[in-house]
Amino acid sequence: MIDTRIYTPKDLQRKTVQDDIRQTLLSGKNVVFPTETVYGIGAFALSEKGVRNIYSVKGRPSDNPLIVHVRDVSELKPYIHIDQPYVEALIDAFWPGPLTLVFRRKQTVPDNITGGLETVGTRVPSHPVAREILSIAGVPVCAPSANISGRPSSTLFEHVLEDFNHTVDIIIDGGKSDVGLESTVLDVTKKRPVILRPGVITRSMIEAITPPVTIATEAESEEKAIPKAPGMKYRHYAPEGRLTIVEGDAENVIAYINEQTRKHQEENERVGVITTGEHADAFDTPYVFNIGESADEAAIASNLYIALRTMDQLKIDHIYSFSFHKGRYKEAIMNRLYKAANHRIIRV
Ligand code: TXA
Ligand code: MG
Repeated sequence: MIDTRIYTPKDLQRKTVQDDIRQTLLSGKNVVFPTETVYGIGAFALSEKGVRNIYSVKGRPSDNPLIVHVRDVSELKPYIHIDQPYVEALIDAFWPGPLTLVFRRKQTVPDNITGGLETVGTRVPSHPVAREILSIAGVPVCAPSANISGRPSSTLFEHVLEDFNHTVDIIIDGGKSDVGLESTVLDVTKKRPVILRPGVITRSMIEAITPPVTIATEAESEEKAIPKAPGMKYRHYAPEGRLTIVEGDAENVIAYINEQTRKHQEENERVGVITTGEHADAFDTPYVFNIGESADEAAIASNLYIALRTMDQLKIDHIYSFSFHKGRYKEAIMNRLYKAANHRIIRV
């Protein structure tokens, strides 16, 4: 058991703390830090031990590759081949920011972070604390989302603590994540870029700059021996309770959920509901999570994982959620919600 050290962003100004962070990473140990998307659990990318440790404390399958984070694109030169002419414009438009680009890798990239692939995912985060950590480290840092494999990603410091207190050396408390969903993952090795994971950098934002985008479907990537985005084949983001998405007119959705609630309550089972603010008073259970107003897609995105983890904290047996098909972030939000529900959808 590790005596985890917890720092605030202000602590990062102190030289002793900077030294601690640098030494921790360089000696093959892990630091959890906030990014604008979700918290990441970081290791020095060239440290075999640090990387192995990430897989071990997350319980992550070893064929699921990690994203390499750097402070500036120039630091990627030794590690990647840029094959497509549209890449430079993408980098200009979206880095630093919530976009991961998958490049053909050079042999300098250790095999244990790419899960056996000939490509590597990379990202320049915009969050000031993430950038500070990368400056202090002075080396590339690979960082998957800071959650035990299969659980929702952490978007609050408390959620990081739930999963990693006493298993990592350092955790930086950066408060609530701004975006709340993981970065868009875009394969830029081909003439047409391929979205491997939707995020808040959307297809239309990308296509404003690049040739038409292909979207990798999950079925497509699961059929392949080596999936396009290995992360897509695993059950993800899932709460412990049984999550069902209910789609249809609000009135019907509410009636259905209340009917199910009565049945479950007769069995002494606890029911939770994830709803937009407009309907927060419509349910016959006290365990209602108001995810934000339906027109506020940014709020819904940033509260989704908090909603799922809150349901677990409340020991909810059955979770019912509205679907959130409005606004620019709908692909990203519904991608995560459908996975969390294991594609259990009721249409009413
Ligand atoms: O927003 C984010 O991207 C966060 C923060 C911490 O930066 N990180 C994150 O990492 O979500 P992770 O490891 O939880 O998800 C990375 C996803 C996985 O689905 C993985 O399979 C895919 O990116 N990926 C990584 N490298 C890849 C590659 N070379 N080819 C295809 N997919 C890749
Ligand atoms: Mg993840």
